Amino acid sequence: MTIMVGAEISSKPFSQRVLTLPSLGVGISTEFGATEFGLNPNTLQREHPELVQFLEIGADLERGIDDSAQEWIRAGHPTTYHFLDVNLEEEEDIEEEWCRATADLAAESGAAWLCGDAGLWHVGPRDRGHGTLMPPILAPESADAMAKSVRRLSELSGFEVLPENPPAQVFLGPMHLLEYFARMSEAADCGLLLDVAHLVIYQNACGHDLKAGLDDFPFERVVEVHVAGGVEYVHEGRTFIDDDHGLHIQPGTWELLETVIERSSNLKAIVYECERNRIDDVTPGFRRIHEMLGR
Ligand SMILES: [Fe+2]
Repeated sequence: MTIMVGAEISSKPFSQRVLTLPSLGVGISTEFGATEFGLNPNTLQREHPELVQFLEIGADLERGIDDSAQEWIRAGHPTTYHFLDVNLEEEEDIEEEWCRATADLAAESGAAWLCGDAGLWHVGPRDRGHGTLMPPILAPESADAMAKSVRRLSELSGFEVLPENPPAQVFLGPMHLLEYFARMSEAADCGLLLDVAHLVIYQNACGHDLKAGLDDFPFERVVEVHVAGGVEYVHEGRTFIDDDHGLHIQPGTWELLETVIERSSNLKAIVYECERNRIDDVTPGFRRIHEMLGR
């Protein structure tokens, strides 16, 4: 592939770039091998084309893209590329070789953009056994470092990059998560992926109100939203929410989704992350998302 687009991406402001991004509708997530333990997105799309319009492919360079995602790509349906192997918080992790190889894989997949949890996907070298997902330290220095990483990845890959608020029960640093992503996205002049299920987990774990921090958040930068199930559990007398991608979607997640849809003027895509369930069990969730979008 050519990297020409990257220069073009970086020279225009987000407010103009976003107008050229496709509206993908509602999609489902997948990760390498997920079909073995859950549903086949191709079957879901064939049976319910009105519910599912695109596939978000969770991928890393080590494993590549599995057969069911390849089948989706061959059918010519839209995709996005969700990276699972880069530390956006660490500038030194944005290696040229990785960026170009990821761009090639995303281009072969027909991806509309790159996205993924913004923090740390691995500790130490990018290698088997080093994988873990950790949130960034919510401090201005980290937000500014991440902004540089996002710009660099965008320039080297030629793709729009949408950082996602990651899930965690413990966060360090003085900033609210939404304040952090607001600062980072302004500095990078990038779009955002807002995972409302992750946001509910964060607000709950930190003792914030469900809608704390929303009023100053740059919703015009939200291009994609994630919705997923989460289950409550108690640890040492406190209730937390586990990001299990199961069938129970928290009431707060639905409430936040409603608000985010209302406020996000550039929203292009919503993913229901539910790939490890049965088709018949997830169709009600897809229907509810479509109903909300219809309103
Ligand atoms: Fe997500």
